[in-house]
Amino acid sequence: MELLIHHLAEIATPLGTTPRRGSELREVRRTQGGEVLCRDGRILFVGTAEERRHRFGELPGVTRLDGTGKTLVPGFVDCHTHLPWAGSREHELAARLAGKSYQEIAAAGGGILSTVAATRAASEEELASNVAARLGRMLAHGTTTAEAKSGYGLSLEAELKQLRALRRGAADHVVDVISTLMAAHEIPAERRGSNAERERFIDEICHQITPAVAAEELATFCDVFCEEGVFTLEESRRVLQAGLDHGMVARLHADEFVDSGAASLAAELGAASADHLVAVSEAGIEAMAAADVMGVMLPGVSFFLRKDGYAPARRLIEGGVALALATDCNPGSSHTESLPFIVWLGVFKLGLTVEECLTAITLNPACCLGLGEEIGTVEEGKRADLVLLDAPNLFNFAYHFGVNPVAAVVKDGEVVVGS
Ligand code: NIG
Ligand code: FE
Repeated sequence: MELLIHHLAEIATPLGTTPRRGSELREVRRTQGGEVLCRDGRILFVGTAEERRHRFGELPGVTRLDGTGKTLVPGFVDCHTHLPWAGSREHELAARLAGKSYQEIAAAGGGILSTVAATRAASEEELASNVAARLGRMLAHGTTTAEAKSGYGLSLEAELKQLRALRRGAADHVVDVISTLMAAHEIPAERRGSNAERERFIDEICHQITPAVAAEELATFCDVFCEEGVFTLEESRRVLQAGLDHGMVARLHADEFVDSGAASLAAELGAASADHLVAVSEAGIEAMAAADVMGVMLPGVSFFLRKDGYAPARRLIEGGVALALATDCNPGSSHTESLPFIVWLGVFKLGLTVEECLTAITLNPACCLGLGEEIGTVEEGKRADLVLLDAPNLFNFAYHFGVNPVAAVVKDGEVVVGS
């Protein structure tokens, strides 16, 4: 199977297989004109039409995708989402618009625990079909690889159900999915009676849920909500250590509302990433840079919770941290599947350049998920996961906001969206 994407206005891509940090985040190669030839799911050639004719001839029978007036970029990689959930929380949006805070709503029994109740009540089939529907919307907005977490089950049975549903929903879908166990997302209602109960829940995560998920090979990563009022630093260390002991790679929801030292814990444990970071300290930034922990920015959360404070993305870049941008797609704090929308927030709220944003939704999140050798750039040898933007150049991607900029998506060398 061969596909020739030709007459392109521009090809814009970061380069390489390793995370870009500091000024490297801006090093995007932008070439005017040009073609990309895909064969057997891989990128075989990137260059001018003349070079292609010289190396491969006229290719009379090849499938063609016309790139006239359009820009080709790598398939987007959404490295932080919470896809397998049931229920809906628009009533919380109404409460927030009436002045209640996210934490007040959670304390009154809403928030994560209301989604836990709906997710526990849902069947595996229903969750799998929710996953597939969300993956469909992601793909329509250019995402070709996504990470997704459990964490709305909070019991052995319900966490396994969520992860099995994720596997099932992803099995028939072209978007590649990498799974994360996040049983430590919140303390469930039935474990809130005493400290001993709380302790027993953490023991259950470490000694029952984590081994069971590992035995079924249901998760690559483990994650924890390390935050004041949720899991303490010490509890987070225990939970993540259990994941590490079972061959998972650690990630953290870190320093979202207050600085609790979670970024430094990410460094101590060799985590792949620390995510959120709105309240990260200077010491946390230094520790992350020194230990090669990726900083995952989730500006959809500040936007959706109507907050003025966004993560200090420029400070993280100056401090030498490799950044990624992700949707955090979830029902409570960021209900979107659209990485283009997150790019607009990256530009207009985090002060990132368009080039930095492109690296932060392609190569860097691919590296965060351990896939930097395979995806994340438009280079010969990588998997042919590509997005054709309805934009004459990369900059136009940010300039024309609020519309879906995706004209076509190519997954494993085949056109799966557009024509
Ligand atoms: O990543 N921060 C914790 N968890 C989610 C929010 C989940 C919810 O409100 O349902 C997040 O933002
Ligand atoms: Fe999250």
